[in-house]
Amino acid sequence: MTFDRSIKIAPSILAADFANFGAECAAVEAQGADWVHVDVMDGHFVPNISFGPTTCAAIRPHIKGIMDVHLMIAPVDPYIDAFAQAGADFITAHVEAGPHIHRTLQAIRGAGAKAGVALNPGTPASAVEHLLDITDLVCVMTVNPGFGGQKFIDMTDKIKTLRAMIGDRPVHIEIDGGVDVNTAPTVAKAGADVLVAGSAVFRGGSVTNPGPYGDNIRAIREAASGVYV
Ligand code: DX5
Ligand code: ZN
Repeated sequence: MTFDRSIKIAPSILAADFANFGAECAAVEAQGADWVHVDVMDGHFVPNISFGPTTCAAIRPHIKGIMDVHLMIAPVDPYIDAFAQAGADFITAHVEAGPHIHRTLQAIRGAGAKAGVALNPGTPASAVEHLLDITDLVCVMTVNPGFGGQKFIDMTDKIKTLRAMIGDRPVHIEIDGGVDVNTAPTVAKAGADVLVAGSAVFRGGSVTNPGPYGDNIRAIREAASGVYV
């Protein structure tokens, strides 16, 4: 996996048909998705429950490219090996999920996955300042995590601060929550390269009518790329 800062669209399967994950993953990839974003929620760190490592393992054979697993769970460490064995390429943990995020990121890399760190809207960029050399991705939440389809919260200043902090390091900036054609330009311009989008990608389509997925992905990519500097 080579590092680059081109715009990558990562549909969140939280907005997919839960009875049809395999086909949904294949459909969004066939329609131009770069990564597939997989939201794991525990009903404890966030007020919603989605699914766990067994589901991730079941989905894996249906994804040709990157499986990007976003853990909204606490604690994280006891489950890292299970998600790595499920075939996650990226495993992202929240800085707010426990007192030892540095150890968690080391453990994720130790398990053979790329290590991501996520920041809730209320958490400053400085929380990851001393983690950037052991991190492959910083996920800036632009909603309070737990649910798809929420309104975008503007984190432009935080994204710009992170972009400057990261400098030449091979660390992705991912934006998660409320990304659509209207908000993608702002976050891309501020320095983001991975755009997670759930409702804005899956809206209007289905596995039997996947064309709208492609239209939605192209529209977000074009909106973001037009202003990317
Ligand atoms: C929020 C999740 C997001 C979410 C994105 O807790 O981490 O990935 O599903 O969904 P939209 O794009 O609908 O805001
Ligand atoms: Zn997510």
